Amino acid sequence: AGPCDIYASGGTPCVAAHSTTRALFDAYSGPLYQISRGSDGATTNINALSAGKVANAAAQDSFCQSTTCLITTIFDQSGHGNDLTHAPAGGAATGTDPGGFDTQAAADGAPVTLNSQKAYGVFISPGSGYRNDATNGIATGDAAEGMYAVLDGTHFNGACCFDYGNAEVSARDTGNGHMEAIYFGLGTGFATGAGSGPWILADLENGLYNSANVSVNPNDPTVTERFVMGVVKGQPGNNWAVRGGNAVAGSLTTYYNGVRPSPGYNPMSKEGAIILGIGGDNSNGAQGTFYEGAMTSGFPSDATENAVQANVVAAGYAVTSLTSGPAITVGSTVSFRATTACCTNRFIAHTGSTVNTQVITSSNSSAIRLSASWNVVTGLGNSGCAASFGTSGFELFVNANDGSALFSTDATWCPQAGFNGQGNSIRSWSFPSHYFRHFNAILFAASNGGPSASSLTLLASRASESQWT
Ligand code: AHR
Repeated sequence: AGPCDIYASGGTPCVAAHSTTRALFDAYSGPLYQISRGSDGATTNINALSAGKVANAAAQDSFCQSTTCLITTIFDQSGHGNDLTHAPAGGAATGTDPGGFDTQAAADGAPVTLNSQKAYGVFISPGSGYRNDATNGIATGDAAEGMYAVLDGTHFNGACCFDYGNAEVSARDTGNGHMEAIYFGLGTGFATGAGSGPWILADLENGLYNSANVSVNPNDPTVTERFVMGVVKGQPGNNWAVRGGNAVAGSLTTYYNGVRPSPGYNPMSKEGAIILGIGGDNSNGAQGTFYEGAMTSGFPSDATENAVQANVVAAGYAVTSLTSGPAITVGSTVSFRATTACCTNRFIAHTGSTVNTQVITSSNSSAIRLSASWNVVTGLGNSGCAASFGTSGFELFVNANDGSALFSTDATWCPQAGFNGQGNSIRSWSFPSHYFRHFNAILFAASNGGPSASSLTLLASRASESQWT
């Protein structure tokens, strides 16, 4: 059985079921998600390999070969049509996609395996988010509902708000109690759990809550697991709960089950929109990764949720390589030569903090050759990737490490097999739709289509510094 078969047998059926990694019903064989391709704008649906099974990641890999893909739609598997697409502008933020929509997630930003079969999660960068403001069957008012989500416990920040769940249909903050969603992150400025975070909390609007009105709930632990399960539920009679656990082992723990915060949260004023990766008012500065989740009609029992947790554990989530193409080995010193036809004599170098391309030969001074030599270190933001460049905005700079989490994520790059069949294309870890590109000899972390019209694929020559002398 899938998670939504379990909810159904508990008397609390799924009214939304979203996952890019697997079917959440045993009998579901429809599309899991739709992707669009950067090279020609074509779209395709990615289905499960067969009913009830893991996504067909190979179909994505082949459709997206030599180009980039974005996730355009996360289909609702419950039959209620509650599909998610990129979120429209809201009260707090306007997205940067045409029309003010939030950006879409790179289709390959969050590779994992489920019992050794490859699949992709939804990697939400700041500015990305998904939403459905015209749903069917989702709880409104004070009606009972439950929800769960499987997330990456190592991908988070403090910005508002990496959420999955029930929010305002207007994408505006319409007051306390107008949301009921799972939140994951540092919850900056709101209630927290024990330790230094991140935490699973509940976004009930105008507050990320760990309980009723307590600022620190010592029973809501700092998440240290790579895959984390978050659970939130609420029902009439002034009752709600937040639960969580390790999505690859063990059982759920109840962090809180009790009365609502006050004022304004009893009765609730849920509106029934669904959000992913953003706040109710489209606050879109947060980041995180979503693998699967569902929302129910009715208040699931703890026993039902425990069975869903066991089902998630049995799905066998595990990490897999974030890199491809020729290895760029940690500890080595490398030079990066452009493979764009115009510029194959140019190497990535830096002049002061500006990262540029320069024509460099062995007759250049050692200072210039050194400026085009890069030490490969373990990715600061994710140890599965290599890092040696920082960015500000999407122009690349050489910056000293200021020790911040933002620096770590900005300075982490995941080499991929080169889009033009040569060497590597260098992908940003935190903005996986962005790659090294050059324009007027300046380096950018650019998405498909901008800021330069010319394509850039980079060949890591892997020349050691000594080869220049
Ligand atoms: O409750 C926290 C956030 O506050 C909500 O997600 C958002 O709508 C508001 O800005």
